Amino acid sequence: MKAHKISEQVYCLYADIQTEDLFEGIWPIPRGVSLNSYLVKGKKTAFIDLFRDWSGAEGQFEEALASVGGAFDTIDYLILNHLEPDHTGWLGEFRRRNPRAEIISTAKGINLVKSFYKLDSGLRAVKDGDKLDLDGVELVFYETPNIHWPETMVTWEPASGTLFSCDAFGSFGALGGRVFDDEFTPEEHVFYEKECLRYYANIVSSFSTFVERGIQKLDGLDIKCVAPSHGMVWRKNPKDIIERYARYASYSRAEAGKSSGGESEIAVIWSSMYGNTKLGLDAVIRGIEAEGVPYTICRVPDEDVSYALANAFKAQALVLAMPTYEYAMFPPMAYVLDIFRRKHIFGKTVLRIGSWGWVGGAKKEYETAIEALKWESVPSMEWAGSPTAEELKVLEERGKDLARIVKS
Ligand SMILES: Cc1cc2nc3c(=O)[nH]c(=O)nc-3n(C[C@H](O)[C@H](O)[C@H](O)COP(=O)(O)O)c2cc1C
Ligand SMILES: [Fe+2]
Ligand SMILES: [Fe+2]
Repeated sequence: MKAHKISEQVYCLYADIQTEDLFEGIWPIPRGVSLNSYLVKGKKTAFIDLFRDWSGAEGQFEEALASVGGAFDTIDYLILNHLEPDHTGWLGEFRRRNPRAEIISTAKGINLVKSFYKLDSGLRAVKDGDKLDLDGVELVFYETPNIHWPETMVTWEPASGTLFSCDAFGSFGALGGRVFDDEFTPEEHVFYEKECLRYYANIVSSFSTFVERGIQKLDGLDIKCVAPSHGMVWRKNPKDIIERYARYASYSRAEAGKSSGGESEIAVIWSSMYGNTKLGLDAVIRGIEAEGVPYTICRVPDEDVSYALANAFKAQALVLAMPTYEYAMFPPMAYVLDIFRRKHIFGKTVLRIGSWGWVGGAKKEYETAIEALKWESVPSMEWAGSPTAEELKVLEERGKDLARIVKS
């Protein structure tokens, strides 16, 4: 693969990762992910963000570097905006091939270089506003802590107006030979937007406050190109991705009792062993459809929690359908709620429904599980075995009630 030119002095290099491995050991990436790095060339050369040798990444980077006459041993500075191993896993091998490059990161980043990779020389810690002169082009560093690790920073190249933002403004989805936002069709953008939401909900959503702070901090820069470490490079519409991230961050800003956390839609997340819960859910969905409110639907554990998380993060309201299982919630739903708490899926308006066999138990566990979530509940509904015609009517009304709240 070749390097992609951003300006005379700035190039994007990336590896498309296609793997059955889970990202961060937890999130599926059936359509892959890209690991992006950047080469900035003055008389001196800087390489921004490294990679992990995953699914042949090393070879892809070597080839891209060679396409612009570069090699790992000619790099003068290695800039590490973020130390997570997807961007640093290859650091030991890089050091073996290039013993003289100076490794630059925040003070916290340098500590992580030492603890993860046991390197102790040729390291430089930079602070907010520090500059690096490459003799012909200059880089500036801004600390943007906690997006999504504590050591994170971004690197700014003022001449081309390129912001190397690392995980911020990133997305899942392999790129397939292209990299710039203007090289993808509107249909492809729809796909990548979904993968961007899932990436944000999975990786970044617990840190939305810091995303907002970071965006505010960078407000004064005349950003012409957003160059993240995953996903496309935004040279045509850099504001699109910044505004999208600002909107996503706002989904986490919900307060108790206010259904402000998300868009006017409903995320239905359901589970069922033998279909009795599903019968009731179908009635709820009829109610939602009657009110014309858009909804997404996801069954667990058949579909990975990663998708349920993205849908729930975006929606103002949720329907959670679960049967009772061994005097408690159906276990995959307990896992969903646990992930929602960890990922700050706060301030939603929620309808819970489900079937039980002899005494129930899901309700009690559910009510304890949601205490930390600042959710507003519409009256929940449970039934024994399969729902009666009367119960189905009530369920349909509950679906309408929830939809009307979303519309109001
Ligand atoms: C493994 C298993 C455990 C169950 N545990 C309970 C229970 O503790 N309490 C209860 O009232 N019903 C229990 N049930 C009954 C289910 O809640 C009941 O069959 C319900 O209708 C299942 O809904 P579904 O058809 O949507 O899966 C259990 C069923 C199964 C298969
Ligand atoms: Fe990361
Ligand atoms: Fe990353």
